[in-house]
Formats: sequence, structure tokens, C-alpha cells
Amino acid sequence: MLRYGGFFCFILINLILVRAECPPEREQDLHDEAKLHSDLLCAYNSDYRPVKNHKSAVNVKVRFALKYISFDSLEETITLHSWVALNWKDEYLNWTPSDYGNIQEVQIESHEIWSPSMALFNADASTYQSDSFYTTCLVNSEGTVTCVPHIAHTGICRTTLRSWPYDVQNCTLYFGSWMHTGEQVNFTFYNTKPVVLDDFQNGPGWKLLNVAHDRLPGAYNCCPNSTYPMLKYTFTLRREAAGPAAIIVVPSIVIVLLTLTSLLMDIKDNTRLMLICFSLFGHFIFITEIGYIVPKLSSDTPIILLFIRDSMVVTLAGILVTLMLMSLRKRTLPPPSWIVSLNRLVSSGPGRYVVFTEFDPNVSVEDKALTDDSVSGSNNDKSNGAVDWIQFANLLNTFVFIVSFVVYFILITTYIPTDS
Ligand SMILES: *[C@@H]1O[C@H](CO)[C@@H](O)[C@H](O)[C@H]1NC(C)=O
Ligand SMILES: *[C@@H]1O[C@H](CO)[C@@H](O)[C@H](O)[C@H]1NC(C)=O
Ligand SMILES: *[C@@H]1O[C@H](CO)[C@@H](O)[C@H](O)[C@H]1NC(C)=O
Repeated sequence: MLRYGGFFCFILINLILVRAECPPEREQDLHDEAKLHSDLLCAYNSDYRPVKNHKSAVNVKVRFALKYISFDSLEETITLHSWVALNWKDEYLNWTPSDYGNIQEVQIESHEIWSPSMALFNADASTYQSDSFYTTCLVNSEGTVTCVPHIAHTGICRTTLRSWPYDVQNCTLYFGSWMHTGEQVNFTFYNTKPVVLDDFQNGPGWKLLNVAHDRLPGAYNCCPNSTYPMLKYTFTLRREAAGPAAIIVVPSIVIVLLTLTSLLMDIKDNTRLMLICFSLFGHFIFITEIGYIVPKLSSDTPIILLFIRDSMVVTLAGILVTLMLMSLRKRTLPPPSWIVSLNRLVSSGPGRYVVFTEFDPNVSVEDKALTDDSVSGSNNDKSNGAVDWIQFANLLNTFVFIVSFVVYFILITTYIPTDS
């Protein structure tokens, strides 16, 4: 076996040697570009900063051409897809164009030369993101290198969901060198157009409103001789609210109207009780349904959830009041004198135009009592008492309606988020 193994090895080595030998007629003359390329890189060391004096900085200019932003408000991450133009001067990559057939520019792979690694400081560490990149760079005869890698950065961004679904989020990303000081690798912006938004596309559900950029010099008291500059980009995003608004904001107004309408209805009408119970049921269904959609675990609760919660309480109060008024209405005992005088007061003053349901100022109280089927057949004394109770119930009902209307008005103005 061993002998055979050695034999195969021998054949293999032979094959490799034969392949490496190039027949003379196949050899190519290096043209100027290839010559320039090999001359530039023959003694190049890509491990060190391309400066001749170690005390000078490599100034790296950065320009973001944004292509696409996707934002996940539940995970609180923002992903930026962009072409990042990086431009710096490499002191070892210059040449005299006349020596190489007037070539002004040459393309070199980024892994063959030194390239700056730009780190995202508030990166989402759960996704793999490399600080370095791989692309083809353009080098001109003065040694200016320009690389435009296509990079996706995922950063962490706290969300504020108070005015969901009409919320606007600010996401700030910080870029800089992870290990070099500003005296070694100095990140700055391009002088013109540091952020380019041509060909930008909005991600699902979000619209980019603005990109602000700022360079933090990064001078700290601890280290007077070094700075740690950072490039700060703030993205302002607005949620595309039409969908969530259709699912949540409009239906919540509908159930509010349902509650208010049922409070406006006749107390003796059973439909009223059915309607308001249905409205309460609607609140339960609705709050369960939207629990799946609304991000409820954020530090600040979306106020629309608080609105539905409070509306549920008002509706429950409406049911209790309705039941109470129904039983009040059935009373036939003579009411206390303050109720009678209150009724007189309201029915004689301008208040009578405000009290609705069953109350008709043109019909006298006695006529009303006789036509009212629920108290017909009772004797005069009793019906008088009953009429007072009915009037009082209507009065209370009007009061309850006005109070709940005001409550809803306050709730809507403070709690329903609006598209500012
Ligand atoms: C977002 O930033 C802008 C300006 O940078 C500021 O006016 C706005 O209030 C910020 N919005 C939030 C929600 O922090
Ligand atoms: C870095 O760049 C900034 C902006 O161009 C400049 O003000 C600063 O002096 C530079 N720092 C160094 C150490 O060269
Ligand atoms: C900063 O540089 C000065 C002058 O080169 C030197 O005297 C000083 O010790 C340095 N300070 C630190 C904290 O390195």
C-alpha cells in the first residue's frame, strides 16, 4: 500500500510541475497597465497605514449614497443599504503617467491595498457585519484612492411609539475607526454632498424625511494628544400610517360613536341596552385584535391603547347607568320633593331644550303619562309619581350623555394620535 501511495504522490507532483511550466510561445508581454499594476504592488504592504511619516494622519472622506432603509420598530433596529464612497490618499500608490503610457487611473482590488475599516459603533451585534469591505477601487496617479463598496449596516435605534401609528422616529448611527485615533485615521465628510439621496427607495412602512450629519471631534480630557472622531448620521423616519390608521384609528372612532349613540337612545328602549352591550363587546374584541398589531412592549405605550382602555370604562359606565335609569323609570312611589322641584326647574327654564328623549315640552306632563304605555292603567296619584321619575331619569340620562360626550371629547383630543 505504502509503495502505491508513494507512486501516486510522484505522479501528482509531476503533474503539478508540468502544469506550472509555461511554453515560451504562450508568454505575454506586460502592457502598460499590467506593468503599472505590478510595479505599484510588488513591494506594497497592505497591513500598515499608507503614510511615510507615522505621525501624519490618513484623512478618509466619507459619502453615503443611500439606497434603501428598512426599519424594524419592534426589534428596534435600522438597516441601511448604501454605497459608501471612501476617499483617501495612499502615499505609496503614485506614479508618473508618462512612464506608463499616460495612464491616469488604475483599478486595484481593495484587498491588495490598505483600506480603512469603518465601524458602526451602535451596531446590532446579532447580525454579522464586517468593518472591512471587498470591492474594486480606483487609484489615480497622485495616489488618491476611491472605493465605493455596497454595504448594509444594521444599527440599534430606540423607538418612541407614543403617537403610534403617526410616529416619527429618529435613528442615529455613529461611524468611526474602532482602533485608530483621529491622528492615525481621520474620518471626515466629503466637502460636497456628504449624503446622496438620488435613487433612494423607502423601505416597507417607513418614509425617510431627513438625514442630518455631523462630525463629532471626539476630544476627551483624558487624552489631550488623541482624538476619537465619529461621524454621526441622524435619520428621521415617518411611519406610513394609512394602513394602521384604517385598522385601528377609524374603528376606534366608530365604537366611540356607537357608545354615544346608544346613550342618546330612549331609556325604555331595549335596543339601547343591546347596542351598548354590543359596543362593550366590540371594545373587547378590538383590544384583543389590535394587541397583535400595536407594539405594546415599548417603554412608552401608544396612546391609542390608552384611549380604547378608557373608552371601555366609559362604555361599562354607560351600561350601569342604563340599568340604573331603567329601574328608576319603573318607580311609582312619590319621589322626594327635590326631584320634583328639579324637574320643575328644568322643564320651566331653558334647560328643557337640552333634555331629550321622551321629553316634549309641548305635551303636558299628564298627557304624556297617559300616553306612556308603561304606566298606563295605574291610578292618577301613582302615575304622577311615575311621571316625575321618568322625567328625572331623562334628566339624568341627558346629564350622563353630556358628561360622556365631554369625556370622549377630552379623550379624543388628548389620546387619538393625529397626523401632524
Ligand atoms: C428628531 O430630530 C429632530 C431634529 O434633529 C428634532 O426636531 C425632533 O424633535 C426629533 N424627534 C424625536 C421624536 O426625537
Ligand atoms: C481631521 O479632519 C478634520 C476635518 O477635515 C480636521 O479639522 C482635523 O484637523 C483633522 N485631524 C487631523 C489629526 O488631521
Ligand atoms: C502630549 O504631547 C506632549 C507633547 O508632545 C507631551 O509632552 C505630553 O506628555 C503628551 N501627553 C500625553 C498624555 O501623552
